[in-house]
Amino acid sequence: MQAVMEDNKAGRMARQPGVYVYDVSGQPWQDVGKAGLAQKIVRRDDRTGQSFGFMFFDTLTRTGVHQHLGNAFSYFLSGALTDYQGTTGAGELGINFPGSTHDAIAYLPTLTVGRMEGPVAYGPDVTHSLHAGNRHAAFENAFPEHLPDLNIMLDAVPVSATRVPGLTRRLVYDYANTPHQRRMTQLMLLPGACVPAHRLTALVDLYVLGGDVRFHCQGKSLDAKAGDFVIMEPDAQLRFESRYGASLLLWAEGPALWEDGPSSPELYGFTSAHGDPLRFGNRAPGDWQAQRPTPVRISPPAAPDRG
Ligand SMILES: [Fe+2]
Repeated sequence: MQAVMEDNKAGRMARQPGVYVYDVSGQPWQDVGKAGLAQKIVRRDDRTGQSFGFMFFDTLTRTGVHQHLGNAFSYFLSGALTDYQGTTGAGELGINFPGSTHDAIAYLPTLTVGRMEGPVAYGPDVTHSLHAGNRHAAFENAFPEHLPDLNIMLDAVPVSATRVPGLTRRLVYDYANTPHQRRMTQLMLLPGACVPAHRLTALVDLYVLGGDVRFHCQGKSLDAKAGDFVIMEPDAQLRFESRYGASLLLWAEGPALWEDGPSSPELYGFTSAHGDPLRFGNRAPGDWQAQRPTPVRISPPAAPDRG
């Protein structure tokens, strides 16, 4: 991980929020303490349980029983994992929620892009450290009829046009019914497409699923290609383009604000949501919080009029 460490050092020295590209293809796999499990993590915080990177499971490897304490995402690049709910395979985004409790096994060599947004609890018999911030605890599945995985086949999600020529978008997951205002989105750029200058309001983690993309930030140009991870810091100002076309998977923790032009429609899909009757209403990102429904208060019945 030398290149990653050097990039991190460069990141710490930079005074302005930036964009960082990680090519881990030539880096050795990181041991997690169990044969058949390995990872290449580019961002890991054991305090919060957040991590982002590759996870690898060899044939007949089990994760061990664990309980998620935050949202966890696995985009399956190859192979599949099976738990008591069923099998999640290549081309699918698997989402676990706080409380999801399961043991998963690989029947094929399996490579995923993993994004953990909270820690994971393991039973006392599990000794490996696959997840950031993992901890040992006694736990039960308090909601046995809540299935552990929400699986979304990426290619089945409708593609939306955008106002940026050559850019289309899949809003894959809108974090509905969670406390988070985030989006998991796929952006697709035709060859030559240019995404105009914008400023990020929050962290964006990005994986280059296919093609090439060139970022311009802080007067510098950064090239990323298929298989690279990109971390974009809050307040970074950037634009990006693709020469031969690109497919990008990203997790945005807040909307992007265009440098020129109206703030809506927003780049990552914050101005739309699944099941939203105003999905194409082009609300400003700042309106999103205000649009959340307020709890309905039920007033006690009025006292009967006794005349
Ligand atoms: Fe899991």
